Amino acid sequence: DSADRGRYRHYMLKEIHEQPRAITDTLEGRLLDDHVLEAAFGPKAHDIFSQLARIQIVACGTSYHAGMVAKHWMETLAGLPCDVEVASEFRYRSHVVTPGTLFVTISQSGETADTLAALREAKNLGYAATLAICNAPESSLVRESDLTLMTRAGPEIGVASTKAFTTQLVALLLLTVATGRYHRLDKAGETAVVEALRRLPRSLEAALALEADIERLAEQFVDKNHTLFLGRGPQYPVAKEGALKLKEISYIHAEAYPAGELKHGPLALVDTEMPVVAVAPKDDLVEKLKSNLQEVRARGGVLYVFADAGVNLKSGDGYEVLRVPEVAEVIAPIVYTVPLQLLSYHVAVLKGTDVDQPRNLAKSVTVE
Ligand code: G6P
Repeated sequence: DSADRGRYRHYMLKEIHEQPRAITDTLEGRLLDDHVLEAAFGPKAHDIFSQLARIQIVACGTSYHAGMVAKHWMETLAGLPCDVEVASEFRYRSHVVTPGTLFVTISQSGETADTLAALREAKNLGYAATLAICNAPESSLVRESDLTLMTRAGPEIGVASTKAFTTQLVALLLLTVATGRYHRLDKAGETAVVEALRRLPRSLEAALALEADIERLAEQFVDKNHTLFLGRGPQYPVAKEGALKLKEISYIHAEAYPAGELKHGPLALVDTEMPVVAVAPKDDLVEKLKSNLQEVRARGGVLYVFADAGVNLKSGDGYEVLRVPEVAEVIAPIVYTVPLQLLSYHVAVLKGTDVDQPRNLAKSVTVE
């Protein structure tokens, strides 16, 4: 066991640090020059992708958060309408299916009972085809889907998913390009995404280099009972994933909100005892996010903000800014995930929880 973990104290930490390699592996053979290879999704991919009108994504847990990020990519880059739903809800309600809709499942294990049941249900509902993004090649989900794209994260032992999530995001960005070229995505757009993907492993190395600062930051969280994570646009699901990681392994209550919703409730909770974490890359919404953060600060909230140099925020009283490397906007959700993983890991270590095997949770939930 300790041999497998190498120099790392926990599998989770090892898996966090494996992300640049896992992403390189997931991209291997799927790009040619400045193209995404459609055939990577299977021999029927061309016929299916060229006929699509819509995407329906279904998943659970962390994989669901990956789907939430993908909705932004599908609608802004690809110009394809995209809906995302948790599998346990999808499987138990009625659906109106638009002709030409691709049904996409996302799963690390490929054996999650709710996701599998949703896929089986979808087959009777008139979807154009099914596609699985999965980390387990022999799994039921892969066997039962028309198209597949394997994430090549390698075995993930820690119950809290890390490298499976970031490789799912890479796979979903490949899917966005492969379907988007039949819609809004032009040649220059595709080239820009491919270049950003090729740079991604190095950008993640740079994000991992924040670890010492984050370890220090973790001390501010260890005695807290509640935390709030904020993000906007595609960073909202990143905030949700950050909050999920923290609750899973440190047992600290964590909520995530799209920052514009603060005024509709969570501002009432803000005080010095509830740290507020924000993910703030430079993008179209960052000025709005900055004023949301001022609303928190004005009520005595203590802020920890992950931002790049372009955002022009400085640390001050009750306001700590951690500098994340500047990256292309499209891959920012993947890069900003990493510091939040490290934060939850180091808080959990300080609390002395069983990081790789948190109480009451299972790696793969194969019963309902
Ligand atoms: C469990 C795991 C999570 C995972 C979720 C979905 O809750 O603890 O880490 O995100 O199942 O699993 P899947 O294998 O379908 O991605």
